[in-house]
Amino acid sequence: MLILGVESSCDETGIALYDSDAGLLSHALHSQVAMHAEYGGVVPELASRDHIRRVVPLLRSTLENAGKSLADIDAVAYTRGPGLSGALLVGCAFAEALAVAIDKPTIPVHHLEGHLLSPLLSKTPPTFPFVALLVSGGHTQLMKVTGVGEYELLGETLDDAAGEAFDKSAKLLGLPYPGGALLSRLAETGTPGVYELPRPMLHSADLNFSFSGLKTAVLTLVREQGEAPLDEAFRANAARAFQEAIVEVLVKKSLKAMKQTGLKQLVVAGGVGANKQLRSTLDEEAKRKRFRVYYPELEFCTDNGAMIALAGCLRLQSGTPAKPAGAFAVQPRWPLMGA
Ligand code: KG4
Ligand code: ZN
Repeated sequence: MLILGVESSCDETGIALYDSDAGLLSHALHSQVAMHAEYGGVVPELASRDHIRRVVPLLRSTLENAGKSLADIDAVAYTRGPGLSGALLVGCAFAEALAVAIDKPTIPVHHLEGHLLSPLLSKTPPTFPFVALLVSGGHTQLMKVTGVGEYELLGETLDDAAGEAFDKSAKLLGLPYPGGALLSRLAETGTPGVYELPRPMLHSADLNFSFSGLKTAVLTLVREQGEAPLDEAFRANAARAFQEAIVEVLVKKSLKAMKQTGLKQLVVAGGVGANKQLRSTLDEEAKRKRFRVYYPELEFCTDNGAMIALAGCLRLQSGTPAKPAGAFAVQPRWPLMGA
């Protein structure tokens, strides 16, 4: 069974071909980051227009690289939500129209389910059940994953997502959008312990998070520097302090979730899962506490078509029927538990 995956929920156009026997055959991605950087954030209208421009050439190169033609595709999976409505509509309209043209069904996929299942694209994938720490630009959740479509929310952020906190703090430190990865690189050059930032909800009894106070603490630190341009050492030390704080909270809450569920596998998914300090701290703790941590390949941490094709394929295999092509709707707001 050959599944075409289409991702267009935000600022990346992703196309992939996933074969139920052979695995991922090929995938192609176009990131709009450079286009949005000029505006300091994603401009939804520009995102939609760019998806329109990219989607057909990306489909062509994906097919070509896999040595496949449209006739080989058995079903078209695409991100139905959550995300930007205009951007979602482009991918959805494209996928549904293509499916009508090749007379094949479609599989609308939840974007977060794609992230959750993305470590299964690795050479050494986890097995069910596992705990998932989903840390992206829009979401921060701890989830118990028992099987495909069997997700129990253990805890989530009450305000900003982890990626959002990274991006907002990066902006305060003068880094361009999206600053998460840049802040992390800057933090590597900083000295730990120069500044002490709050660890929000670190000791709360639940598995929820809150990051807006941390961002405000960075703002306060920046304001204390006065009007002059921020010097390099301050920026690096502040970035370090921010990263230390957010990583500690993410790690402690993940450990709590492992203890609470008694499971032995932790999956980290979403863009912040690319963070080196988060990875090394979790790896150390896993060794001490005797559980295993799985990360998606770096290229599948951020948005991509491969995770959508995979999620579509696994949904079909686990009994969710594909739907006839043609009729469609997007769901910009869509809780994963109802998917
Ligand atoms: O999963 P993703 O592509 O987006 C959503 O679906 O929301 O994640 C993007 C987020 C951005 O906030 C970005 O700054 C952050 O992931 N990110 C990082 C790193 N690489 C990407 N945050 C911290 N450290 C990184 N190395
Ligand atoms: Zn995402």
